[in-house]
Amino acid sequence: MPVSPATPRGLDGVVAAQTRLSHVDGQAGELIIGGYQLKELAGRVAFEEAAHLLWRGALPSRDELAKLRREIAQLRALPEETMRVVRAAARTPPIDALRMACATLSLDLAHPDDISPAADMAAAKLLTARFPTVVAAHARLSVGKQPIGPRPDLPLSANFLYMVHGKEPDPIAARAIDAYWVTVIDHGMNASTFAARVIASTRSDMVSAVTGAIGALKGPLHGGAPGPVLDMLKEIKSADRAEAWVRNELAAGRRIMGFGHRVYKVRDPRADVLSKVADQLGSAALENRNLFDLARAAEQTILKVLEEVKPGRNLRTNVEFYTALVLQALGLEPRSFVATFACGRVAGWCAHVIEQHAEDHLIRPQSEYVGPRGLTIGGD
Ligand code: ACO
Repeated sequence: MPVSPATPRGLDGVVAAQTRLSHVDGQAGELIIGGYQLKELAGRVAFEEAAHLLWRGALPSRDELAKLRREIAQLRALPEETMRVVRAAARTPPIDALRMACATLSLDLAHPDDISPAADMAAAKLLTARFPTVVAAHARLSVGKQPIGPRPDLPLSANFLYMVHGKEPDPIAARAIDAYWVTVIDHGMNASTFAARVIASTRSDMVSAVTGAIGALKGPLHGGAPGPVLDMLKEIKSADRAEAWVRNELAAGRRIMGFGHRVYKVRDPRADVLSKVADQLGSAALENRNLFDLARAAEQTILKVLEEVKPGRNLRTNVEFYTALVLQALGLEPRSFVATFACGRVAGWCAHVIEQHAEDHLIRPQSEYVGPRGLTIGGD
């Protein structure tokens, strides 16, 4: 049903908050994170440095980084209550297991309802430290393997791959997952961040806000697209089949995953960064190289056909297209992709919760009533 121009569908174009954290310029194809262009940061700072930038407003000094790394490393191990939930959820999709496990993390906070800046910062470190442990433990349990405990001597990203695969990752793989998490750490007022801010605006706590954000990230229109991107490439099989495949999908009224964005009307700058990361991973294994070459060729064909079939919609490659390639080259299962995304985005969610708590103003929009009026129950 059409809505009045005063209430844009899906809040399109509405500014819902002021933030110092990140800015998405959809026309210029730019993403600013804490004052830096994404390309300045990705591949040049570690994930913990980017988290510090968002949480403290500046990149850390060497000592500050070492301290933050130490603190996060000490928090990585999961308490027994959380591990019980992860075990019980071994057969559910990883993102659902992460949502359930995240909610249990309140149990380990001395004052879970405390929303002071110090309590928020402590919760931010806890959540950021433990998300990779949850996702790695679930990845192993879901295939009948025992979880592997975290190694405090490794950076958060390298430790994640260690806990998934049981061996220290090679430097290219460790750099790739780190660059991926920096790339997705924050992205303006996306749906999951908005969900977190709405929850925080009621003076609810950090764990509640982040648990809600995971629910918002899960959907295929937001973070759930990279799994289907990989399915798509497997179905396309070879570059010469791409055009027929994409035309058939569009004729059937289906969306092409990894393309289109509410804000970007040009190529998503995160796709550029991740395509380079996928390219580097492609040099390490022939299988990855073949998939990368197929993706590059299919991307061009899909863009051409989208422009022809959906003219003027400016449907360009988004972050999820190359995310799929990076994560599968790191040996992760497609069902874990969205939960792995959450391991990076959690630092951004926490920063937004801190900012929203400081703002301390309830987010409470109105709706436009389009139902009937004046109905009566009737009778005598
Ligand atoms: N494939 C085919 N057509 C598309 C696609 C697509 N991927 N995306 C949008 N369209 C079409 C719509 O069908 C619609 O066509 P119409 O005008 O003929 O009705 C038009 O473009 C506008 O679509 P909207 O849904 O209004 O655009 P919106 O800005 O709401 O969509 C979204 C953004 C949800 C990301 C959409 O592009 C999409 O579904 N993409 C595929 C899923 C995906 O890749 N999601 C990841 C996004 S990145 C992230 O969240 C981390």
